[in-house]
Amino acid sequence: MAKLIVIIGITGNQGGSVASTFLKDAEWRVRGLTRNTQSQASQALSMRGVEMVQANLHDIPSLQDVFKSASLVFSVTDFWKPYFDTSNQARAREQGKSIGQYAYELELEQGKNITQAVAREVAGLDDVGFIASTLCNARESSNGWYKELWHFDSKADVFPTYLQEQYPELAKKTSYLHTGYFFTSWQYTPHRWFAKMSDGSVQMQFPTSPSMLVPHLHPRKDTGPWVRALLQLPPQSIVMAASEWLTWPDWIKTWGEVTGMQTSYKQTTVQDLDDYMPGGSGKEIGQMYEFSSEFGYNAEQKDTLMTWDLEKMGLHVPTSSLREYVEAEDWLAVGVMAA
Ligand SMILES: NC(=O)c1ccc[n+]([C@@H]2O[C@H](COP(=O)([O-])OP(=O)(O)OC[C@H]3O[C@@H](n4cnc5c(N)ncnc54)[C@H](OP(=O)(O)O)[C@@H]3O)[C@@H](O)[C@H]2O)c1
Repeated sequence: MAKLIVIIGITGNQGGSVASTFLKDAEWRVRGLTRNTQSQASQALSMRGVEMVQANLHDIPSLQDVFKSASLVFSVTDFWKPYFDTSNQARAREQGKSIGQYAYELELEQGKNITQAVAREVAGLDDVGFIASTLCNARESSNGWYKELWHFDSKADVFPTYLQEQYPELAKKTSYLHTGYFFTSWQYTPHRWFAKMSDGSVQMQFPTSPSMLVPHLHPRKDTGPWVRALLQLPPQSIVMAASEWLTWPDWIKTWGEVTGMQTSYKQTTVQDLDDYMPGGSGKEIGQMYEFSSEFGYNAEQKDTLMTWDLEKMGLHVPTSSLREYVEAEDWLAVGVMAA
């Protein structure tokens, strides 16, 4: 009988890619979690042969049985949708917290609930039986300088910290997938990715040094191949999932070559992003770019395997290029380029 992979976040970017990878493999069957089994995305996955089950990461009883019989679990937690949810913003205000801290607490709760539920099934899991999508700990990596990179620490404080401290048996079967900047992230701050200059050219404006090499990921296409690679490595491995490593000037240059636009890159400040998106999100996003410039995107954690480390081990992860992504996107339809 085919082995079972349970995928959290299957209707989203990373989980969707993992599903596509494992649906092609007859040795695996796929179960996916969603809050809404009737949504269009859930129905489409059911049609492709996925067993879709209802679960909410904030509702512990709904997680009771969903990991039963699993050989492998892939987990994603969410930060930005709860962050931009206006009812959460109102609750944060009532509790006298920043929305960053509130969303941190929600993502932390998701991660802890997942960990507790998966830990109950640890005996049935493969040697690499749990793969958690996470990011590095910015607070610790910067010796406390970056205290409000909430969306990094809300992942790292569970995967690995809480998991290793509270569930050592599960930790022995866990590997970690750090994910690079999504090719699609321009949607959050389009006027800083593609600032329109008075001469008609387009300028990318981030607080990252122009010479800093950072990882970029096509989450919809390339997360699955990276999860596959983790299955070929020992448990407790950490990989930096990247489609390509590029400086930001390289990113915008590639975009310009495909679209035919004149482009440039300017290193700006956290204050600039805070002014552009007041209320906390601009500051947090700006600090993320600054942190990656000063410490490295994953703080150059020595135990993280990069693309080139895997290549040296004879493990090639088939990924797509930024150029392919830019060519496939309709920049007129998404409003980045004027007609
Ligand atoms: N943007 C970037 O550059 C970047 C880079 C690295 C990491 N990340 C991280 O990536 C994460 C988001 O991943 P993604 O883009 O793959 O996800 P996504 O496309 O935004 O989709 C979110 C997924 O999570 C599920 N989900 C959300 N809340 C849930 C809940 N309470 N219970 C059950 N399922 C829930 C959703 O399922 P249903 O809606 O079907 O319930 C959906 O499948 C964020 O934490 C972000 O910080 C982003």
